[in-house]
Amino acid sequence: MLRRLHPEQPESFAFTPANLKWAEAQITKYPPGRQASAIIPLLWRAQEQEGWLSRPAIEHVADMLGMAHIRALEVATFYFMFQLQPVGSVAHIQICGTTSCMICGAEDLVAVCREKIADKPHQLSADGRFSWEEVECLGACANAPMAQIGKDYFEDLSAEKLGWILDELAAGRVPPPGPQEGRFASEPAGGLTSLTGARASEKHNASLALATALGDTVKRIDGSEVPLVTPWQGKPAEPKGARQGAAHDPRPAAGKPVNGTGVSEQEARARTKAKPKAKVAAPPMVEPDDKAPDEPAEAVAGRAPSLMEKPEGAADDLKKLKGVGPKLEQKLNELGIWHYRQIAAWGPEEVAWVDDRLNFKGRIERDDWVAQASALAENSANGSSKRQADDKAES
Ligand code: FES
Repeated sequence: MLRRLHPEQPESFAFTPANLKWAEAQITKYPPGRQASAIIPLLWRAQEQEGWLSRPAIEHVADMLGMAHIRALEVATFYFMFQLQPVGSVAHIQICGTTSCMICGAEDLVAVCREKIADKPHQLSADGRFSWEEVECLGACANAPMAQIGKDYFEDLSAEKLGWILDELAAGRVPPPGPQEGRFASEPAGGLTSLTGARASEKHNASLALATALGDTVKRIDGSEVPLVTPWQGKPAEPKGARQGAAHDPRPAAGKPVNGTGVSEQEARARTKAKPKAKVAAPPMVEPDDKAPDEPAEAVAGRAPSLMEKPEGAADDLKKLKGVGPKLEQKLNELGIWHYRQIAAWGPEEVAWVDDRLNFKGRIERDDWVAQASALAENSANGSSKRQADDKAES
């Protein structure tokens, strides 16, 4: 399997303040000189933030850990848990295609992905919400065939079941991960043949229980009604107290072993019991827009009102915005964005629309383009009135 860096890369990468705090806390778990051991959680968090791992993100993590860039690139390109190109905004489906899964019907699962998502692996679906790929053995061979979606394993799959899971995700619901044909874990499909007196007292196996309890699955689960939101798309408003001390809050090690999320199993279970069944509205999903940028703006469905302004006068130098380089400026121009005043007028709808088309999720808010553009627009307006006044005085 060829794993290459995507040809189109952002100019830079930075963790959000909350993620930076979390990442620094992870590093404290390792003894001096062993900070490089934190590379996988930090790369994973970078991927959760941006949706995929760009070269600047990989190098940024390497710098944080005092590693040579090539060492971090080796890790990121080796594990296919790391996505080196943009993936579907709702879900990226990884179908195991190795022996057990292949014998048990992985090809049928791939056919479902081809039919429902896109003909080729790593190709985004027409609406940009899904993508898929075939991967090597994921270690759940006893529950073949299976697929990984985000952090979750969906096991004992059939073509019909996978089709249902995709439909559920597309409809904004979160199907429970784990075995899909009624097995508790990986016991024989026909029932126990040894230790037959053993009975599971829990409803779910430990993996599924933790995924549900922590709300740290392919989608964040916060009760029976769940928001459809990928980690990198931000979270919808949550009811007060619903996620206090959630798994993603930064938490330095305090001499007590914790799991990969920084939360002990007991604590996770306690939270589940205390957690209110909160209904959270799904965030608006942006509709696809395949129109060419030079089409009449009014004809571009889904475009927010302030993006319909037709450029007038000389274009502003958008590279003056922190985080915007020549490539990003070109992309913005292609989207019909030429002026500081256009960006200064953006509200959440416009930010989401543009963000969805840049492949560098969260960049606009993180670097506060709107405030930057307002200041630049104001400077440029002041400069031009001063020039007019000078011209008048001279004449
Ligand atoms: Fe599919 Fe091992 S062969 S999980």
